Formats: sequence, structure tokens, C-alpha cells
Amino acid sequence: MTARDKQLVRESFVELQEVSGPLSLLFYGRLFGVEPGLRRMFSEDMAAQGKKLMEMLAAAVQGMDNWAALKPALREMGHRHTGYGVQPAHYDLVCDAMVWSISQALSGGADAELKQAWRALVDQVGQAMQGVEGDCGASPLM
Ligand code: HEM
Repeated sequence: MTARDKQLVRESFVELQEVSGPLSLLFYGRLFGVEPGLRRMFSEDMAAQGKKLMEMLAAAVQGMDNWAALKPALREMGHRHTGYGVQPAHYDLVCDAMVWSISQALSGGADAELKQAWRALVDQVGQAMQGVEGDCGASPLM
């Protein structure tokens, strides 16, 4: 992620945290709309699940500049996800649904640059969960 990506993510996250409940509902609604079969992987209480997701997202935003410190916990979470039945292809669906719902939740929407910045972060979370190399700030492509 570039310094600009991180700045855009940080700035928009201030507003997103104020609407974290609706954001997580938008996210799961979109995810299950695109791939209805995923619903049965989750328990009934989607509000509680949404809270955990938003907390993890907050940890990722706070950890962007110290990514190596966050990686072991993300890898552990990735192992738990394998236990839930999560497949590698699901990470792209989650990333798409997350960027879409973030864009919906922001009062001013999200332009291409902001969407790309969020995609970079969510991609890196997914990569760290799966143990694929990826480091905030290290990739020349981002
Ligand atoms: C950016 C990537 C993701 C993040 C940050 C994330 C975050 C979380 C968190 C914090 C939990 C709570 C339990 C735990 O920590 O193990 C959780 C549970 C779960 N996640 Fe994820 N997740 C991600 C990707 C995915 C993907 C790709 C799927 C596939 C559909 C998925 C499906 C699930 C399921 C099924 C549970 C358990 C729900 C339950 O017990 O009811 N997650 N996730």
C-alpha cells in the first residue's frame, strides 16, 4: 500500500466506524446476494459476527504501518477460517463485497482511488490470513 492509500483508508475509516452496524449488514447482504450458499457457513447472529469483522478491520487499519506485528494473529484467524470451510476463492468475493459496502456506507461514496486503497488493505488481510506473502508498503505494484 502506498502512503496515499493508507491516508485514504484512515480518513474514511473515521466515518465508517460511526456506521459499522449498517456497514456490516450491507456487507453480508451483498456477500450472500452474490453467493447465497455462503449463508449456511455462518451462525444465526449476524450482528455479533459483524461486530467481530469490524473489530478486525479496525485492527488492520491501525496495523497498516506495523504489518509484521499483525501477521501472526491474521494467520491464526486464517487457520480458523479453513476450519469454517472457507476456500481461497471466497477471499475475492469477500474483498469485492467489502469494497462495495464501504462505498455504499460512505455518505460521499467512494471514487476509484478510494476503492483501490480499500481493496489493497482487504487483499493484504486475506493474503496474511492465507499465509501468502504480502506486506503493507512493500509491494511495488500497490
Ligand atoms: C478480509 C478477510 C476476513 C476477515 C477480516 C474476517 C474476519 C472474521 C472474524 C473476526 C471472525 C470471528 C471468528 C474468528 O476470528 O475466527 C470471522 C468468522 C467467520 N468468517 Fe471471516 N473474515 C474474513 C474472510 C472470510 C471469508 C473469505 C469467508 C468465507 C465466506 C469468511 C467466513 C467466516 C465464517 C463462516 C466465520 C464463522 C462464523 C460463525 O461462527 O458463525 N470470512 N471472520
